[in-house]
Amino acid sequence: MQSIFTKNGSETPEPVNAVVTGCVPSWLRGTLLRNGPGLFSIGDSEYNHWFDGMALLHSFTFTNGEVTYRSKFLRSETYKRNMKAEKIVVTEFGTLVYPDPCSNIFSRTLTHLRNLVPDFTDNNLVNIVRYGGDYYASSEVNHINQIDPVTLETIGRTNYRNYISLNLATAHPHYDDEGNTYNMGTAIMGFGLPKYIIFKVPADTSDNRKKKLALRGVQQVGSVPFRSLLSPSYFHSFAMTQNHFVFVEQPLKLDIVKLATAYVRGVTLGSCLRFDEDQTTLFHVIDRTTGKAVSTRFYGDPLVVFHHVNAYEEDGHVVLDLISYQNSNLYEMFYIHNMRQETSSFIQANKRFSPPVCQRFVLPLHAHTESPRGSNLVTLTDTAAAAVMQEDGSVYCRPDTLFEGLELPAINYNFNAKKYRYFYGSRLEWSPHPNKMAKVDIVSRKHVEWFQENCFPSEPVFVASPGATEEDDGVILSSVVSPDPNISPFMLVLDAKTFTEIARASIPASVHMDLHGHFIPAANAV
Ligand SMILES: [Fe+2]
Repeated sequence: MQSIFTKNGSETPEPVNAVVTGCVPSWLRGTLLRNGPGLFSIGDSEYNHWFDGMALLHSFTFTNGEVTYRSKFLRSETYKRNMKAEKIVVTEFGTLVYPDPCSNIFSRTLTHLRNLVPDFTDNNLVNIVRYGGDYYASSEVNHINQIDPVTLETIGRTNYRNYISLNLATAHPHYDDEGNTYNMGTAIMGFGLPKYIIFKVPADTSDNRKKKLALRGVQQVGSVPFRSLLSPSYFHSFAMTQNHFVFVEQPLKLDIVKLATAYVRGVTLGSCLRFDEDQTTLFHVIDRTTGKAVSTRFYGDPLVVFHHVNAYEEDGHVVLDLISYQNSNLYEMFYIHNMRQETSSFIQANKRFSPPVCQRFVLPLHAHTESPRGSNLVTLTDTAAAAVMQEDGSVYCRPDTLFEGLELPAINYNFNAKKYRYFYGSRLEWSPHPNKMAKVDIVSRKHVEWFQENCFPSEPVFVASPGATEEDDGVILSSVVSPDPNISPFMLVLDAKTFTEIARASIPASVHMDLHGHFIPAANAV
C-alpha cells in the first residue's frame, strides 16, 4: 500500500501560490475547504485506524485564474490535549486510550462515568458544514469545532447538546435554496425515548458581530423512533427531496449496552458496531412539513450505506440513489496495520471486501393497504427498480443497479432533491483510496473516467458555471496526491461536461489525502 496515506501530514499555515498549467476559468471564484485525517502518530503513540487521525484542514482559493493553498491542523480540545501530553491521550473510534495506563477497573469506571462515550473526542475530521454563516469542522459526535474559513483558525468548539437534544449528528447535512441547513442526529440517552432526530438551522440566525451562532435558531423538524430500542442504526448521511426526508435504517447497528461499557471493558467504540445480515433495511419517508413518517412500511434486503447520491420525487414516487455495500468490511479496510501491508498482501487480506454499488430504490408514495398483493407498484418506465406489495401490507423494494465501483459521490448540488442525470465520484479498485474519478450518465448508463498513473484524487466537487442551465455545465475540482516525488500535489480542474482536464494547480507544499469538502463561492462571485 502507498505509505503516503498513513504518514503524518504537515501544516502550511500561510497561503502559498500554486503553479497553474492550463487555464482556471476566471469565473471560478471562491474557496474549497477540505477536511480529513492528517496526523497518525504523536510522540511514540500511534492511532490504529485511519479515521482516527487528527483533523487537517485544507483550503484552495480561486481568484482570477490563480490558486492559493493553505492548511492547518484543527485545534480541537483533543488535538491540544494530545500535543500537550506529547502522546495520544484521547480515545478515538478505533483507538482506545486510558488516561492512566495503571488505572484499575474501579478508577476506569469512575473515569467512564465522568465521560460519557460520545464526549471522548472532538477530533472533527470528516467534513466542513455550514450553519447560517458559521463554518464547522464536523465528524459524527456531539461536538463540532467552528473555524474561520479564510485563515483556517479554530474559533472554538460547540456542543450540539447546548442547542438540541441529541448525542450524535451526521457530518453530511443538506442545504436548501434559501440557505437553510438540515441535518440528522441520534438521541440515545438522557432525552426521553431514544429516537432519530431531524433538525433545521435557519440561514439567517448567525450574528458574527455579536458572536451569536446560527445554531441558536435550531428547530427539530421530525423524528423517527428506533426499530430496536437498544440497537439504533448507524447512519452517515440521509436524503432530502422537495417534500420529504428519506432515512435508511440499515442493519449496521450501534450496540448501546456495548457502547456504554466499552471504556470499562477496554474495547474500542468501533467494536460496538455490528452488521446484522439477517435483518432487513427500512426506508423511512418523512414529510418535511409535518415531520411525520408516511405510514407505508418500505423495506429491502440488508445493506450498508454511508453516502447518498441524490433523491427526488417523480409521479408519486420517491427515487432514492445511494452507494450500498453487502457488508461492513469497508471499515475494516481502514485499519492502519491493514493499509501498511504490501499491495499484494492487502488485496489478499481484503478479498471479502464488498465493492460499493450505486443502487436506485423507488418508493411509491401511492401505496396503500388496498393495493394488490404481489404487484409491482413502480410505474416509472426508466428504471428496473421494483416495489412489491406484500401480504402484510408492507412494500418490498428491489433496487436498480446504476453503477458499480464508485464512492464519494457528488452531484451538481443545484439539482439536489430534483430529477437529475449525472453523478460523479471516485472509482475504487485495489485500494481503499480511489485512484480514478468517474462521471456517470444515469440515462445512457455510460461513464467516462479521469486517471493518471500513480495519482490519487480526492472526492470530486462540482461547481456550476455562472448562469448555467445545463446540469453538467461547470467544473469538477479534486485535490490529487501522489507518492511519486516528481509529481507535486495538485488541484485538478476538469470540464464537467467532457470530464477532461482544463487546468491543474501544482502546490509547492505538502498536501494529505482527505475525506470531504465544501466550496464557498466568493462574496462577489456571479
Ligand atoms: Fe462521508
